Amino acid sequence: MVFGDALPAAERYADFLAEAGVQRGLIGPREVDRLWDRHLINCAVLAEVIPERASVVDIGSGAGLPGIVLAIVRRDLSITLLEPLLRRTTFLSECVTMLGLDNVEVRRGRAEEVTKDFAADVVTARAVAPLDRLARWALPLLRPGGELLALKGERAGAELKEAGPVLEDFGIRTAELLQVGHGKVDPPTTIVRVVAERAPRRAAASKRSKRRKGLK
Ligand SMILES: C[S@@+](CC[C@H](N)C(=O)[O-])C[C@H]1O[C@@H](n2cnc3c(N)ncnc32)[C@H](O)[C@@H]1O
Repeated sequence: MVFGDALPAAERYADFLAEAGVQRGLIGPREVDRLWDRHLINCAVLAEVIPERASVVDIGSGAGLPGIVLAIVRRDLSITLLEPLLRRTTFLSECVTMLGLDNVEVRRGRAEEVTKDFAADVVTARAVAPLDRLARWALPLLRPGGELLALKGERAGAELKEAGPVLEDFGIRTAELLQVGHGKVDPPTTIVRVVAERAPRRAAASKRSKRRKGLK
């Protein structure tokens, strides 16, 4: 049981995606037949690894995946949907109103431009950018000890390797692959989990600063 009591809200959201989402070009018409397994359930199972009452920033929410789905299944979370495109934030705000999601704020902006405004427990993202770029955007939005949970497909392992230098710059010690949704979605959803350091090591911070200034 993935949605439980939240199933009616999930059905309304799925209908809205299949109609307005397709009409407004936010989701491809071919996705309609696979909305549940490929999109809604695939995103809902991420809730398995999000702590209770966490503050969550969903980078690049698009039509609300995974942010709206998480808000539906986990009313204890406080979720910000961060999305730069007006057409998409309009759609997201309509979803929030239609579903009465009082645990969601829609914010128009780019992740790399709003770092001062967040110290989140969790940052989520799906299909936004390769992990090395995503980590640069996401890690500054987290509180020390907070977690980036990136939904990734088959290339998850390769992306994790390629992001090595960036993760090293941030002094990251915990970066791993997880699978969630066993028995609920086939194949299970692969997540890359990166934990923001509690106290970034001085060497890493100074290396990062040099790199930003073009000294290295
Ligand atoms: C391919 S869509 C994926 C949307 C949704 N997460 C999904 O899985 O269906 C990528 C989204 O990331 C957004 N995006 C791109 N660059 C971004 C940035 N720098 N900060 C936040 N969002 C960004 C785009 O506007 C777009 O909505």
